[in-house]
Amino acid sequence: MEVHAHDVLIIGGGAAGLRAAIAAVQTDPKLSVALISKVYPMRSHTVSAEGGAAAVLREYDSLDSHAYDTIKGSDFLADQDAVEQFVAEAPHEMIQLEHWGCPFSRDPDGRIAVRAFGGMSVKRTLYASDKIGFHMLHALFQTSLKFSSIQRYDEWFVTKLILDDGRVAGVAVMEVRSGVVHAVMGKAVILATGGAGRIFAFTTNGFIKTGDGMVLAYHAGAPLKDMEFVQYHPTGLPGTGILMTEASRGEGGYLINKDGERFLQRYIPNRMEMGPRDILSRAMMKEFEAGRAFEGPYGQYVHLDLRHLGEETINKKLPFVRELSRKYLGIDPVYELIPVRPVVHYMMGGVHTDAHGRTPVPGLYAAGECACVSMNGANRLGSNSLTECMVFGARAGQEAARHAATAPALNRSLVEAQAADEARRIDETFIKRTGDGERVAAIRTELQQTMEKGCGVYREERRINECVGALAKLRERFARVRLDDRHLTFNTDLTGALELECMIEVAQAVAQGALARQESRGSHTRIDFPDRDDEKFLKHTLTYHSPGGPKLDYAPVTITRWKPEERKY
Ligand code: FUM
Repeated sequence: MEVHAHDVLIIGGGAAGLRAAIAAVQTDPKLSVALISKVYPMRSHTVSAEGGAAAVLREYDSLDSHAYDTIKGSDFLADQDAVEQFVAEAPHEMIQLEHWGCPFSRDPDGRIAVRAFGGMSVKRTLYASDKIGFHMLHALFQTSLKFSSIQRYDEWFVTKLILDDGRVAGVAVMEVRSGVVHAVMGKAVILATGGAGRIFAFTTNGFIKTGDGMVLAYHAGAPLKDMEFVQYHPTGLPGTGILMTEASRGEGGYLINKDGERFLQRYIPNRMEMGPRDILSRAMMKEFEAGRAFEGPYGQYVHLDLRHLGEETINKKLPFVRELSRKYLGIDPVYELIPVRPVVHYMMGGVHTDAHGRTPVPGLYAAGECACVSMNGANRLGSNSLTECMVFGARAGQEAARHAATAPALNRSLVEAQAADEARRIDETFIKRTGDGERVAAIRTELQQTMEKGCGVYREERRINECVGALAKLRERFARVRLDDRHLTFNTDLTGALELECMIEVAQAVAQGALARQESRGSHTRIDFPDRDDEKFLKHTLTYHSPGGPKLDYAPVTITRWKPEERKY
């Protein structure tokens, strides 16, 4: 088996991973850093981010205001120390990104332009028309290329975290091109693999967002935190789930129902289209229930109306929305209405870390959507996540570099032996298995439908219980999975199976957390427990892996300056 050796391994090549890599080599230029990603970095899901990234840059704004909006948006479940660190470091990160070449949109006076976003009390979302993710990722990627100590492993799929006496020692990785498993030694590993929106049927998330990094940590003994909190974005395209950015509403777009009414006046009249995502998604579901929505082949939907913005504004500020609508629906939003429905967009939960990205496993770090610091609590505000990738990616990179510089030498033969075990497992479980069996796609589709039914916008005990039962059955069926393609070269059937294995684990953690949290908070809405219950549930859920299924525990929320209050807009 081929064995590679580095000091810091970063799994994931999106915004958090690239930012962490740059921070690690800047912290200690002597270190060797491996950036391992199952896709070429420019194909990471960051590339599809549209609306913008939040930071306080204007004289009318303040760090306290950004912190308070974030904490209120989180329905008071965010750790307030983490939020304070986030808002304080966000402006520097954004300016630095501009210096690294991110072509932000500008006001006529030359300043970086800012736009309104849901739940933010002032305009503080920096943007690059509606392609912020594409531009951020390019700026980060090209910056990373300046550092020769960052070695990339593009299209390498990490399937196992290797520990030596409880400490991180490396990973087992399958090179997707050849199907060959390698051992990569590292004293510190940073997980930056994004979320797991693909466990749901309708999502803005790319196909790659299957929770792999979360499961690497989970299997290594680190808990997942607050997994029950899954964000629905109110404006995805029915069918594909493609994102119609919140910037459409930030620039003045309306949501209207079948009767042509701006229905949000019934639910959130003071904020209307600029309300937070959890509230808007629930409002849309209520319109569906009341029969004030349209019926289509992919279920009910309402309309996003941009026509009054005019062609010039749409071309300048929302060109991607126009392009996507035309390409995927044959609709031109300059003249026509865009059908939209709530679709899964973001996991507030993830690998439990502190504000330096540290997990309870020595040498293991996480950042970005796959982590839960927690600064998003029960509901993230739009445009905070790219900034989160920058702030906490940098912090994790710095901390991992410091750890690697002083960590003891690694045991090469132990890493090699564990990677060889993993190679055997993959071979026996997936490549060699023949005969009748279950298909990856069939189980995946059922999983997605099960999650949509049991853990959607509105939840209740009976349906979550059914979901938990159905997931256990899907897990049994997965044990009999059989691939149609047993070759080793670019075997997407195999990577699909490895991803599905992770998706089932993540789905079970979401459903168990949702069942146990008998209250409604942020994105988690229980029709059988409609109120927030601070007495019993002002706490984080920690989910531990066990052979019998997820085991839950709880941890306190850090409150610094903002006492929990009723969340009113
Ligand atoms: O709608 C959007 O552009 C999404 C932004 C975000 O999730 O931060």
